[in-house]
Amino acid sequence: MKLRHLNVEDCQQLAEGFSKPYHRDYLAMYSSVLGGAVTHPFLMTVPLDDHMVHRGDGIFEAFKCINGNIYNLEGHLERLERSARAVHLKLPATLEEITRLTVGTIRIAGTRDCLVRLFISRGPGGFTTNPYECSASQCYIVVCRLNPPPDEHYEQGVAVKSSKIPTKKSYFATIKSCNYLPNVLMKKEAMDAGVQFTISIDENGLLGEGSTENIGVVTPDLTLKLPRFSRILKGTTVTRIAELAEPLAEEGKLKRVVFEDITLNEAYSSEEILLFGTTFDVLPVVTFDEHPIGNGRPGPVYQMLRELFEQDLLTNSALHTPAYSEERK
Ligand SMILES: Cc1ncc(COP(=O)(O)O)c(C=O)c1O
Repeated sequence: MKLRHLNVEDCQQLAEGFSKPYHRDYLAMYSSVLGGAVTHPFLMTVPLDDHMVHRGDGIFEAFKCINGNIYNLEGHLERLERSARAVHLKLPATLEEITRLTVGTIRIAGTRDCLVRLFISRGPGGFTTNPYECSASQCYIVVCRLNPPPDEHYEQGVAVKSSKIPTKKSYFATIKSCNYLPNVLMKKEAMDAGVQFTISIDENGLLGEGSTENIGVVTPDLTLKLPRFSRILKGTTVTRIAELAEPLAEEGKLKRVVFEDITLNEAYSSEEILLFGTTFDVLPVVTFDEHPIGNGRPGPVYQMLRELFEQDLLTNSALHTPAYSEERK
């Protein structure tokens, strides 16, 4: 077979027929390399010589826009800055400019409800591991349709298993980098085992986190126990949940909220287990390594926290960045 040598016109023709079922979820992408936003999936590209592609040398964030407001953008940008500092990556723009670019991309996507993925890469330049090859860091922002889990996961709960993938060391676990191979393998492990999530367990038998979600347990004395952020990512969802749960402790509906080590055996004998993450908010776990948790159904602490978080998503304007309204389009 003769290899085709494609020119720009050939690629234009290819673009016209370029359509895959999953493209329907991709609404818009901003690229600092292009200097603007595109909506055609054929143009939603990152140069192969960007070190984010061939070495995972980049950082990212994922956040939601609900009813035209980005939820807790500040929390996500704070974490982005922390990740950038940790890997000595200079942001290509100020956080204010990144916010403006994000809002602009959401407007071009033309939706009030979406998931935004923001990537900061080391940038294009050569193919070695040497970050000094790259002349400037870049910013890519992808706006996708929101795809929450099915209702039955919220209503009947999900199953989790312990992961066999080695837990990251603290330095890497606390950075939201594009080097997510362990996380990818954890998700594959879950899918292959027929459960929704697997949870990392460290060398001392302590609970870590899921592929892209945090975990917490409710002990028999009604303490909401969340793992310390030492070998896991500091999730924005679990951080907010801990704040929302404090009044429940004052009202006597919970004993207290603590960040402490949790052993696997403690998890098996807990009253409730909860998962926290941006794409789904809060989910109840009903089995862990096939041990039923509590009475095997989503519990009252889950119900209370889910309700509080849903209210927060819709009404806590202090945590909202206005991004889109039909009138302002
Ligand atoms: C490894 C990891 N842990 C936890 C989380 C949850 O963080 P957040 O609540 O900010 O989505 C994420 C988010 O993607 C993650 O990648």
